[in-house]
Amino acid sequence: MDNLTRLQYLEAMGIDVWVAKHQLQGADLSVVSDEDATTSTVIDVEFIDQVNLKKDEWNLLQNEVSECEKCALCEGRTQTVFGVGNKNSDWMLIGEAPGYNEDLQGEPFVGQAGLLLTEMIRAMGLERGSVYIANILKCKLPDERNPKVEEIKACGNYLQRQIQLVQPKIILAIGRVAAQTLLETKKPLAKLRGIPHQIAGIPLIVVYHPAYLLRSLLEKRNAWEDIQLAIETYKQ
Ligand code: URA
Repeated sequence: MDNLTRLQYLEAMGIDVWVAKHQLQGADLSVVSDEDATTSTVIDVEFIDQVNLKKDEWNLLQNEVSECEKCALCEGRTQTVFGVGNKNSDWMLIGEAPGYNEDLQGEPFVGQAGLLLTEMIRAMGLERGSVYIANILKCKLPDERNPKVEEIKACGNYLQRQIQLVQPKIILAIGRVAAQTLLETKKPLAKLRGIPHQIAGIPLIVVYHPAYLLRSLLEKRNAWEDIQLAIETYKQ
């Protein structure tokens, strides 16, 4: 595909691309005005290639997940719940598994716990749509039981690829299961909260699961400490 066609695709996707004037000479440019081309920041054609490649990888991964039958959880799902939000965000939030509402709507954290998570995100000075949210498991668990080791293993590669694609500057592990899975530990949540961790060189902060906070209002104050630690760690 030639660069001009690529550029037109990107424009159609709503992605603003500025190209150096010398790269556009002689082309029939219905997508970039002369004014834009002369006054804008220069972004290399290689960048356009990278954007396209990343988009292909996201599509491939999302399709793979939607058809996944690697474990028995596929039998009980309405649909897989892939992830949502800004795929280029500095912030990646990782929960445990979709619940009843998430399974129906195909989006993580949309129930009561989701509303509280959205409040927690706002308390960090961010909007829900500006972060990327995913789960350890992409299918709902029956009867809200804990995930089995083989289910976590079967899903692991999907989340790993999501992290590689987002390349976040900070990860929030939401709740015990996410924290223990990401940090490969059996330590209780109380021992994991309150200190910055790292996975694959990315800072990771463990926060209370909003579903737990809904049941234990007294812990809400501690949730604020989690949020502050996350903001401090991000700023470093
Ligand atoms: N709890 C989670 O851990 N993830 C969701 O998506 C919803 C509830």
